[in-house]
Amino acid sequence: MAGKGSKKSVPGDWKMRLFESLSVPTMILSPDKIIVDVNLSFLESFMTQKDKVVGKTCYQFFFNAKTSCATDICGLAKVLADRRGHSTLKSTAAPGDIETWDNHVFSPILDEEGRITHVVESIHDVTPIKHLERKLAGARDFTEKLIQSLTTAIVTADMNGRILTMNPAAEQLTGYSLEEARKKITVVDLYPEGQAKQIMKILRDERMGGKGKLHLRRFTLINARGEEIPVDLSAAIIYEGETEAATVGIFYDLRESLKKAQRERETAALNARMEKMASLGQLAAGVAHEINNPLTGILFYASLLLDSLEENDPRRKSLMRIYEDARRCGRIIKNLLTYSRQEPPRKEILNLNALLENCLGLIGDREFYVDLKIVKDLYGEMMLIEGDKDQLGQVFVNLVLNAIDSMNQKGTLTLRTFLDKSGLNGCIEISDTGRGISKENLPFIFDPFFTTKAPGKGTGLGLSTAYGIVKENGGALWVKDTGEHGTTFAVQLPLYGL
Ligand SMILES: Nc1ncnc2c1ncn2[C@@H]1O[C@H](COP(=O)(O)OP(=O)(O)OP(=O)(O)O)[C@@H](O)[C@H]1O
Ligand SMILES: [Mg+2]
Repeated sequence: MAGKGSKKSVPGDWKMRLFESLSVPTMILSPDKIIVDVNLSFLESFMTQKDKVVGKTCYQFFFNAKTSCATDICGLAKVLADRRGHSTLKSTAAPGDIETWDNHVFSPILDEEGRITHVVESIHDVTPIKHLERKLAGARDFTEKLIQSLTTAIVTADMNGRILTMNPAAEQLTGYSLEEARKKITVVDLYPEGQAKQIMKILRDERMGGKGKLHLRRFTLINARGEEIPVDLSAAIIYEGETEAATVGIFYDLRESLKKAQRERETAALNARMEKMASLGQLAAGVAHEINNPLTGILFYASLLLDSLEENDPRRKSLMRIYEDARRCGRIIKNLLTYSRQEPPRKEILNLNALLENCLGLIGDREFYVDLKIVKDLYGEMMLIEGDKDQLGQVFVNLVLNAIDSMNQKGTLTLRTFLDKSGLNGCIEISDTGRGISKENLPFIFDPFFTTKAPGKGTGLGLSTAYGIVKENGGALWVKDTGEHGTTFAVQLPLYGL
């Protein structure tokens, strides 16, 4: 520096050359804000000449102003105040122009006594950095918004398992708010015992999809209520250099899709069963027709022969057996034909109670009812329905016979009729105190030919036929209750004229 303490003095020779050759536009100001000198880069950058700058105040040159800028935005004033370097960021944007930013760096020049003689102001163009910063901030903002709006749950945690972030989808899935999760749990609590460890093991294993990565895998997540939620998880370790910094888990809730898959499986199984039933129906109808004719012949000739034999003829017993068995076959064929709906229903108005009483009468003469108690609890008023008397009668006969069979002819058979809550349907319940239907058999009892009875004892067509008839009459038939105490079948039929 030339003259010691001199306000207008400028740095000496080599320092001067250094100043001139600086690639950053730089000026030297006196403490009263007068521009003492500017370097070449300054002149180039502002496209001016030295004599148009030197001698002016900075506010004159930059803003064509008569008064100084406010102290809080004036870097020079700040340097004078605390004798340290300062910087101020200034942005300029002429209308229609791209915004530019300059970082004005102010540094004090001190004399031997430490007094500020001058202030160096260098102007750094930080426009590219600023644009980049803006872009980054925009990208960060976008990513943040994206994560927040995703319906996929994302959880990040530090390497001690402490929750760092959770997006709203993760809050919903886990049942914890981010705040609660941060306070109450670690990431380990989101899994069944040992699972978090297993995940970390996979993440750290090169052979399992690459270091720090876990590709979509089925896991279980435990939510705040302790419920187990099936999820697909993909996870990663976030590294800072070589160091593990955090983990991120992306969870896909599988509950809906698993339910949907289950429903699809059930529908497919039902369709397959329906198809089977339809083809069995056709087969049954074909067989029934073929057998019906010779059977009529057998019955006809057996009865002719019976008539021709004397009352005490010993052959009568065998012939009677032929006749009875042929009639039994006839009944089976009738069942088959009803099952395959080959006989059109003859509809008439029927009294439900009377229909039920009638069907009891049909089976009442069987010799094995000695140990059977029959309880009737019938609705006090008439309940009229429209349907085929024989077919609906067959429904109740089938249900009552099944009930009696299940009790080995010993127990209580209860018949109940009543109006349903809506008043639109007549209900019939047939209960027994028999052995009940096992869990394994329950899904199949309405299938044609499903029977647990000994060969020759049951065709397995009773319930499937009954089900078809009730459905055709606009009603419903189902197992209301079954267990070791017995079984209750329920039938519901729409009342006539309502
Ligand atoms: N009340 C009941 N208690 C226990 N099991 C029953 C009852 N009703 C039906 N089942 C079970 O359902 C199966 C199917 O009944 P379904 O009436 O269709 O045929 P089945 O009685 O075996 O033969 P069929 O009726 O042709 O004589 C029965 O074999 C039995 O295992
Ligand atoms: Mg039966």
